[in-house]
Amino acid sequence: MQEPDAIAAPGSGERQLLDRIDPERLPRHVAFIMDGNGRWAEARNMRRVEGHRAGIKTVRQTVETCARLGLEAVTLYAFSTENWKRPRHEVLTLMGLLKDYISTDLETFRTHDLRLQPIGRVAGLDATVRRALRWAVEATADNRGMVVQVALNYSGRQELTDLVREVAEAAAGGRLEPSSIDESWISAHLATAGTPDPDLMIRTSGEQRISNFLLWQLAYAEIYFCPVLWPDFSTAHLLEALLEFQLRERRFGGLPSLAGGEDTDGVA
Ligand code: FPP
Repeated sequence: MQEPDAIAAPGSGERQLLDRIDPERLPRHVAFIMDGNGRWAEARNMRRVEGHRAGIKTVRQTVETCARLGLEAVTLYAFSTENWKRPRHEVLTLMGLLKDYISTDLETFRTHDLRLQPIGRVAGLDATVRRALRWAVEATADNRGMVVQVALNYSGRQELTDLVREVAEAAAGGRLEPSSIDESWISAHLATAGTPDPDLMIRTSGEQRISNFLLWQLAYAEIYFCPVLWPDFSTAHLLEALLEFQLRERRFGGLPSLAGGEDTDGVA
């Protein structure tokens, strides 16, 4: 974690939150469902795409704060396989914003040593988007700081379906021994291989669903639903989510820890 002054100004509300966070118990990986851009715009009589444009500012600020906090990874759900059902203009705008983000923010990726890793069926994206992604992935490949996974044309069920198909083909071709498949093998063969599973998943806008996001990887994640719309999600909201994360006791299916020799209900 960088110096607190680099994350929140002394005396600010953010700084008060930051000072309550234990830097030793931060999540390694936070995943975000960036929901509510459309509603944010509609509430201001603006076109939905303006909500996405405003959402990019939140992406920038969130990625930078997470990098300064020293997290290992963030995942941003930028475009689901279901999002193709949206009006063509909205889809094209989202793809344009993604390309803009990649080119404009490459400097931030350099400054913070961030590595870009797209996940999802990237092959199904427009050639210009694929080119921009390939370029940014190559440009950041040697960076060793936080991994920024961007889920694009992504669906958790599709990710698992693709893997099952690959496994079946490899087994049928005699290239894979079914008994060699265990949970770590599966984790190592998903697009997220090498990145720790999210410890915390934050969804904005008050919706309380996982929406086909990282179905395998979120198995033990703490889920935090934040009522504000994504363009309004601030550093203070992020820090509040991290504080809440630190109040929860993660048991991974085990028993609550014993406090003072007595059983607790598992919630600090
Ligand atoms: C959900 O809001 C948001 C999306 C479908 C797209 C999120 C994309 C961005 C913030 C910009 C591109 C991302 C990156 C990483 C550069 P919604 O439109 O479903 O909102 P609503 O539920 O209010 O309609």
